[in-house]
Amino acid sequence: MMQADVFTLFPNWFDWFLGQRHVRNALTLGSSVEAVDYRDSTTLAGRSVDDTPFGGGAGMVLRVDVVDWALQARYGVDSVAVGQQRRVVALTPGGRVLDEELVVELAAAPALTLLCGRYEGFDERILERFCTDQVSIGRYVLAGGELAAMVVLDAVLRKLPGALGDAASAHEESFSAALEGQPEYPHYTRPAEYRGWEVPEVLLSGHHARVAQWRREQSRKRGEGGR
Ligand SMILES: C[S@@+](CC[C@H](N)C(=O)[O-])C[C@H]1O[C@@H](n2cnc3c(N)ncnc32)[C@H](O)[C@@H]1O
Repeated sequence: MMQADVFTLFPNWFDWFLGQRHVRNALTLGSSVEAVDYRDSTTLAGRSVDDTPFGGGAGMVLRVDVVDWALQARYGVDSVAVGQQRRVVALTPGGRVLDEELVVELAAAPALTLLCGRYEGFDERILERFCTDQVSIGRYVLAGGELAAMVVLDAVLRKLPGALGDAASAHEESFSAALEGQPEYPHYTRPAEYRGWEVPEVLLSGHHARVAQWRREQSRKRGEGGR
């Protein structure tokens, strides 16, 4: 089970996400995902959360005091100590790129805090003082951390027991240990022949050992870059 909090300026973005089936399954089984609004705890005028960068330049930067207040209000301890209780992950374009290894690592954590940035991003002291990790979903820049947080949560929650209708789907899928970290093999379904495009004969043979061997080979081939 996982207790996940997402700090954001747009908590209602997560309404759709929380309604998705595997997420609902995980919540029914005792996990939680809550969106926390940075603005709920800011004491700045007009519920402000950001300011212009020292040294000049474009955009607005999420303030360290705002994030400090938000973490303290949520966890009731000094924000610097929150990382001792749970993984505190800032979504940043330049962070550790999310891959299967990191997903498995995060899924093993009982509690996770995700911090979404906006505009120019975080005051660096937020990353240095409050966060245990910085995670990127790829080397490109999104407008905000919300979609990145959903990507992280989607990948992590489907690892939790019971989240998927069929647990076997997660056991043998791309990058899993069962496939030695390689991409998954190709799938086919009916019709067996369409416009002259035929399904590989081995898959119709009913010979389980041959099918398993073919799938392993295909998976390895894909891993070597040959689709
Ligand atoms: C417009 S981006 C800030 C970009 C920042 N000025 C830079 O050049 O690295 C605003 C926020 O979106 C989120 N974000 C954007 N791209 C991301 C990515 N590839 N992975 C994770 N988070 C991302 C981060 O939370 C970031 O603080």
